[in-house]
Amino acid sequence: MKALIAGCMLLLLGTPSWAQDAVPNPAPPHPELRPVLDDFGGMPGLTALMDSFMEIMLEDPRLRPFFEHTENDRIKRQLAEQFCVILGGDCVYTGRDMVESHNGSIIDRADFNALVEDLQIAMDRHEIPFRSQNKLLAILAPMHREVITPKAD
Ligand code: HEM
Repeated sequence: MKALIAGCMLLLLGTPSWAQDAVPNPAPPHPELRPVLDDFGGMPGLTALMDSFMEIMLEDPRLRPFFEHTENDRIKRQLAEQFCVILGGDCVYTGRDMVESHNGSIIDRADFNALVEDLQIAMDRHEIPFRSQNKLLAILAPMHREVITPKAD
């Protein structure tokens, strides 16, 4: 009987947060990183950075195949939003979660590393201080779990 009542409660209240198959937040806010966002030049700086980042990736034979037929204006906008939220900005991320965003491609560790390399080149070109680059990269790095395609057993 108790189990039945508990079951009904679940149906009524929806799945409790502890039982949800949690998808990691694609844009976890870090308010303490607001000074880092300033180093990136705020949203205008991030928007300019994404133009360079996409340009660099499209010139990179390792990454061009992923981005030559995608909606790159939208991706650039969503990346800028995502980074802005992560860096404590007053922005809204309008994209999908990282699993859903990437499950249309087969992405391996080398692809992931190549993308991070190109992001570093773009950040260098925009003269983002090394320390601030690393603050952002430290938050992006664990996202490899959602971005890299799981190996079939
Ligand atoms: C930490 C690393 C990464 C982050 C933060 C990231 C972030 C994003 C974001 C915000 C979007 C747009 C979201 C949306 O479509 O709703 C996106 C899309 C995409 N990303 Fe990534 N990404 C990462 C790594 C990669 C890697 C390594 C690749 C491939 C080498 C990749 C390929 C793509 C492609 C092809 C799309 C477009 C998907 C589509 O429109 O169907 N991403 N990514």
